Amino acid sequence: MTHHIAQRALDVEMSGIRKFFQAAKPDSIVMALGQPDFDTPDHIKQAAIRAINEGKTGYTFNAGLPELREAISRKLKTENGIRYHPDQVIVTAGAGEALFIAIQALVNPGERVLISDPGFVSYEACARLAGGVVDPLSLDQNLHIKVDAAIEKMKGARLLILNSPSNPTGTVESEETIRALVEAANDAGVTVLSDEVYEHFIYGDRHVSAARFGEDVLTVNATSKTYAMTGWRVGYLAGHPDYIQQCLKVHQYCQTCATSISQYAAHAAYTGDQSCVPVMRDEYRTRRDLLCNGLHDLGFDFPVPGGAFYAFVPLGKEMTKKVLDAGVVVVPGDAFGKNADEYARFSYATSQDNIREALKRISTVVG
Ligand SMILES: Cc1ncc(COP(=O)(O)O)c(C=O)c1O
Repeated sequence: MTHHIAQRALDVEMSGIRKFFQAAKPDSIVMALGQPDFDTPDHIKQAAIRAINEGKTGYTFNAGLPELREAISRKLKTENGIRYHPDQVIVTAGAGEALFIAIQALVNPGERVLISDPGFVSYEACARLAGGVVDPLSLDQNLHIKVDAAIEKMKGARLLILNSPSNPTGTVESEETIRALVEAANDAGVTVLSDEVYEHFIYGDRHVSAARFGEDVLTVNATSKTYAMTGWRVGYLAGHPDYIQQCLKVHQYCQTCATSISQYAAHAAYTGDQSCVPVMRDEYRTRRDLLCNGLHDLGFDFPVPGGAFYAFVPLGKEMTKKVLDAGVVVVPGDAFGKNADEYARFSYATSQDNIREALKRISTVVG
């Protein structure tokens, strides 16, 4: 029997990240996953347990629980200085779904989508699944977007995807850069889709939301990283009502609504005690310093990343292979685009002991 597969599925590949994770052996040090190694804070879990016990287990409104959309709207105003009415928020199954529905609803076949290269794996796949044409934005030596080159590409493009702090580079773009990119994009009629899932993991500067600098900006975020809730699958998309109405249709037909129980948990996350967030941030900062100082001492030269929980290190292809063979699972840079095959991504969402052991193993293979 021939299994007929649609071209759009054939045109995208499985994420290169899982492949490396799956190759891990029992004694491997896994630094390949973009997932917090913390447990979800207890008050958030308790809210989910209460929802189950109270029978809040049916469908919610497609766009999400009204009180959760209100909490998100309030959070965007107080934390991010941006105004989206609760009706302008769709609660999604993680940031992943928010990206997918936005790109499905906004991008026509053949339209150009500007994405930094290297960049998060879903952007290219989502753009292609919508029939869009990916136009890569290259980074400078310090892994920042080349602003002038990006601005030159704006004319005629449909969408610009921004991600600061960035996966895979850990780069935090300056307010000046974000402002320049958003203003140039909106002036050229290009919508900005700003993925801010790592906003709370910044170790120097403050996070700056792209929507502060333009009207035509959709904001994506999630509970996943901020509250160590990757498996709960709650994120959101916020934007102009004209977009949100259309995105809601895509969401309705693929997801109906985000999991009800998880939405109650997310409500507790956004409205409850926030002290868990700086605790995690401080720990990530300590780990970042441990990893980066260790790699610098071993002779690898790279700028210390300002955010997320990744270091994107120019190991070179040969050294990356040696590091993998030594039982340290990193992700080779080519998983994130065409411009990064000399790099490897280290995730430091793992214990300090694991980072020390990884550095020890790497020291045995450094020439
Ligand atoms: C930049 C970025 N955006 C979105 C996501 C997806 O987040 P979620 O688990 O909320 O779907 C990730 C996950 O690794 C990410 O790194």
